[in-house]
Amino acid sequence: MIVITTVKAMQDWTETIKRDGKTIGFVPTMGFLHEGHLSLAEQAGEENNYTVMSIFVNPLQFGEGEDFEEYPRNLERDKKLARQNGVDVLFVPHVREMYPRIMTSSLIVKKGADVLCGKSRPGHFDGVATVVMKLFSIVSPDRAYFGMKDAQQVAVIENLVKDFHLKTDIVRGRTVREEDGLAKSSRNVNLNDEERAEAPEIYKVLSETKELILKGSRKDSAYYENFLQESLNRRISGTVDYAEIRTFPELEKTEEINGAVIIAAAVKYSTVRLIDNILLSKESEQ
Ligand code: PAJ
Repeated sequence: MIVITTVKAMQDWTETIKRDGKTIGFVPTMGFLHEGHLSLAEQAGEENNYTVMSIFVNPLQFGEGEDFEEYPRNLERDKKLARQNGVDVLFVPHVREMYPRIMTSSLIVKKGADVLCGKSRPGHFDGVATVVMKLFSIVSPDRAYFGMKDAQQVAVIENLVKDFHLKTDIVRGRTVREEDGLAKSSRNVNLNDEERAEAPEIYKVLSETKELILKGSRKDSAYYENFLQESLNRRISGTVDYAEIRTFPELEKTEEINGAVIIAAAVKYSTVRLIDNILLSKESEQ
């Protein structure tokens, strides 16, 4: 595995690979790797000639008072894990390398950025879209892998690719969980013991809501959303930021559950905000 830290060196590597007609699978991350990231790398390895992973904690997507400083980092451990999991190139640019000067243009996400996570994190998805656009023009991947744990991010990036006719295919990766159901997240290490013990309830409630929808004869979304919100409020000591059912990938409210929907929730604990969701496909078999 080679480690690249400059934009120029990364672009040069990509150019050589493309000249040989080989394909690149790309996994953008903010590091502190866990099995969620690694399963994306594994999938990229199976479907492409080369796997590039980036590790970059992107300041642009963190708001005022958010956890940019506290975001966990451990590059030495990440290098080892990336190497062991088939990553060919680890791109680890410094903030000054990615943002050498104040940006003179910017991307604004106009659809799907003001609901769910975007509601309490204004500007977050603009920051995500901007850095992903920059990374795509540095790496020029054939395919890029994004986890469904961040379903709203997947929707935003899929729209970005369509809007700008980017030549990268977006691949959705399944959510990897701890044995007790908690979605793996770099931020889980910042939960205190009580919060960590309680956190699996989030996924349990999402799953119970899914079961209720699948078993139920009712179609009205509000009934199930009520169940979701009430159950979370009763069983979670953290603050429920949102608990909603929306169409996917449009992220619109729906009166009736007919097509694909996500059942999504975010919970704020003392220093960590956790998110999770379940996608209910059209065939309702998920
Ligand atoms: P990060 O939170 O590090 O996540 C990197 C990728 O791993 C994302 O596609 C995310 O959805 C995926 N991921 C995280 N937890 C997962 C889990 N439990 N199972 C499966 N996949 C999981 O998301 C970001 O970084 C950033 O916003 C980024 C896209 C890199 C832009 O800065």
